[in-house]
Amino acid sequence: SAGICRRRVGRRYNTVATATATLEAPTEILRKDYQQPSFFIREVTLTVRIFDGRTEVASRMLLEKNTGGSLPLDGEDLKLKKVLLCGKELKEGEGYTLEKEKLIISADALEAGDSTDLWLETEVEIEPEKNTQLSGLYFSGSMYCTQMEAEGFRRFTYYLDRPDVMAKFTSVRLEADESKCPILLSNGNRIDSGKLEEGRHFAVWSDPFAKPSYLFAVVAGDLASIQDKFITKSGREVHLEIFAAKEDKDQLWHAMRSLQNSMKWDEERFGLEYDLDIYNIVAVKDFNMGAMENKSLNVFNTSLTLAREDTATDDDYERIEGVIGHEYFHNWTGNRVTCRDWFQLTLKEGLTVYRDQEFSADMGSRARKRIEDVRILRAAQFPEDNGPMSHPIRPEKYAAIDNFYTATVYNKGAEVIRMYETLLGRDGFRKGMDLYFERHDGNAVTCDDFRSAMQDANGRDLSQFERWYLQAGTPTVTATDAWDAETGTYSLTLKQTVPDTPGQMDKLPMQIPVRVGLLDRESGKELMRDTVLELCEESKTFELKLDETPSGRPVPSLLRGFSAPVKLEYDYSDEDLSLLAGFDTDSFNRWESMQRLGSKAVLDAFKTEDIDSFQPDATFMDAMKRIVQDKVTDDLSLIAYALILPTESTLMQQAKPPIDPTRLHEARNRVRKVIATELEDDMRKRYDELTPKDDEKYVIDGPSSSQRRLRNVLLAYLCTSGDAKAAELCGKHFKTAKGMTDKLAAFSCLCNIPDSQEAKEAIEQFLADANGDANVIDKWFASQARADVDDLLPRVKKLMEHPEFSLKNPNRLRSVVSVFISSPQFHLPDGSGYDFALEMIPKVDALNPQVAARMANGAFRTWRLLDEKRQKMILDRLADLSKAGLSKDAAEIVSKMQA
Ligand code: ARG
Ligand code: ZN
Repeated sequence: SAGICRRRVGRRYNTVATATATLEAPTEILRKDYQQPSFFIREVTLTVRIFDGRTEVASRMLLEKNTGGSLPLDGEDLKLKKVLLCGKELKEGEGYTLEKEKLIISADALEAGDSTDLWLETEVEIEPEKNTQLSGLYFSGSMYCTQMEAEGFRRFTYYLDRPDVMAKFTSVRLEADESKCPILLSNGNRIDSGKLEEGRHFAVWSDPFAKPSYLFAVVAGDLASIQDKFITKSGREVHLEIFAAKEDKDQLWHAMRSLQNSMKWDEERFGLEYDLDIYNIVAVKDFNMGAMENKSLNVFNTSLTLAREDTATDDDYERIEGVIGHEYFHNWTGNRVTCRDWFQLTLKEGLTVYRDQEFSADMGSRARKRIEDVRILRAAQFPEDNGPMSHPIRPEKYAAIDNFYTATVYNKGAEVIRMYETLLGRDGFRKGMDLYFERHDGNAVTCDDFRSAMQDANGRDLSQFERWYLQAGTPTVTATDAWDAETGTYSLTLKQTVPDTPGQMDKLPMQIPVRVGLLDRESGKELMRDTVLELCEESKTFELKLDETPSGRPVPSLLRGFSAPVKLEYDYSDEDLSLLAGFDTDSFNRWESMQRLGSKAVLDAFKTEDIDSFQPDATFMDAMKRIVQDKVTDDLSLIAYALILPTESTLMQQAKPPIDPTRLHEARNRVRKVIATELEDDMRKRYDELTPKDDEKYVIDGPSSSQRRLRNVLLAYLCTSGDAKAAELCGKHFKTAKGMTDKLAAFSCLCNIPDSQEAKEAIEQFLADANGDANVIDKWFASQARADVDDLLPRVKKLMEHPEFSLKNPNRLRSVVSVFISSPQFHLPDGSGYDFALEMIPKVDALNPQVAARMANGAFRTWRLLDEKRQKMILDRLADLSKAGLSKDAAEIVSKMQA
């Protein structure tokens, strides 16, 4: 059975001594090979004894025969001590065999025990203190904690470490030294606790809900906590507690409020209530990802938990609220209904991202949230979909599943969910959700099950919609139109193409909802009610009925609200865009029109011989001026976002390859500079108006943070000159900042003028003010590592010599190395940036494969878009990397990059 007993490649990917040998890519497993497990595990009891330097894990599992045969348990880096079946000890070769990452209980032994309950017991020893991968049980400063998703449980004990095996963890007994680990936590309810000899103590936890191993968690340490409660809609009281290192205790209240808001929102919007009496969250400093939804014991990266006005920016506050929501929402979409196999990851992640986006939209501003989400999609997912890692939201194969926690699975996955809502309406979508829970609560299911629920609850045929799960690549929808003034008919032709992606050619047309409106070209008035057109064929012409007689050929507002994750092409004139930017009733398309104008300007600059004398078109400059002066739009964030040019990562996808990224950066800077120079007076005036009075209190709420956002965007423009005046303005902004948002905005600008006196002082001051707070120190590193300066690489290397720098803490590592890798300076024409990546990736990989793999992906995934010289340099580095004996995670990325 290839699906289950698949050959596993060791953690160290095979090295070949000779430089000429081509390396074999790591073994992949395929979605189509799914097979059920030979046995289920129905019940588990665990005893975890934590000692200094070693931890003992004893497990007792109740098996239930399924297809039968032998039982291959997963295990990695475990020292096996004992195996018992139905109370009788088994010996190696007699009852079980041991492979590198499997413990196989023989079919004979299992048959012999068949008459009674099949209890399998194992005892292993592990070394959490030496676990630098941060997968499984590991030690992080003040605590032991676990990260089991996706395949970390096998690094804790032998198990069927796959999501379709759901067991009740009836008793999890934790034992540790009481002074070192006064807090002992696991999932569910604490049913017992007490003292043991030699200063040790214990706690026993029991979780009434069956769950897959990836949702299991343990935390043991010396932690502080805050407590509150939530009364559910049916009147049950839930105890809420958030734990962190003692020094961080005063930074937990925002997370608590966010949790309570999430619980309330899910009841109101989806009728979903929390199902246990306890909800714990633990914030940990060393964490590979953002956060983890373990049943009733979420574990969070401190960067997504801790917030105080002097440590966290407005964006941090919002991100924390969103991720607290995300993990909470997983309790239904992920935990109560989970994934059958990891190919189905988007079943829980796409859906839960959609839910957290909706939550944030309801808590703050819906218009603003939509823009932010699309910005992320374009900057992170579009490049992925157009690069060597391109995969459908439901991948067909993988070597290391951790490489597939991607923007495609998460963010494009959320867009796919959003399209169900667009196609079925909000009520129809809710009906589908209700049916999904009715059918699948307590089960491990597939994306097809979700689609069937949506289909059946609404009596709609959604079979073509499956292509969103099957086909990778960002479709392009091209619109052309015709206007017949005689008959007053407006017709719109939509054509779609789905690009070829690695391993996938000749794709079929998708089902694409395109929300459209029409505007009068004179008055900007809306000419018809906004409509969702369904494009299911390669090409289709729609005749649109106007409610009013237009003054001429209407201006179409296409893909309103970004109704599908596609690239929309239409031959807009600058005047059309300027009209839409000013008058469209769809706030997303108002922003979008400015983005289109901005892209045009930067790409025009990119194409001109002499970038330094480039001037953008007057229509664009006028539109920018109108926006700076706009006093009508009450959400200042919308003004702020309209002023920000598309990110370089987004522009890379729009420019025509081969692209010189250094030149693209110069082009974008040139346009920024012209805007800043021409609009300086308006910007300065607006900036001053937005500057808080000396006695004004720093408030964290929507309007105040929008005010800061706009003021800080203006500050960045006003500083593009980098002259003494700019330094002075930034220095003042920095010194008078009352909270982290303003302080960091000024600090980042100052890092771009590092030789100014103001910058030198700020660099010292910021670190001193951090007072040891790791998240603030990360900001200090990151701002310097992304500075727009010519000598960035030597500066980055210097930062890495700083005593606060560490390769072992993922947040710190990312704040310097990953930040640099995504900066324009990474692509220095001499290849020194690429050499730096070549040096760092194996070093990081030896400690933490998951983080190294992400780094390699971030560094090189756009290489095919680059100019020939850079392509060649990168290919050389990739060839070197493939000989570096990388982990399975990193090797998969490196081999995909070369394919
Ligand atoms: N399920 C988590 C979340 O999105 C992410 C876990 C990622 N873990 C990993 N090893 N890739 O909320
Ligand atoms: Zn998630």
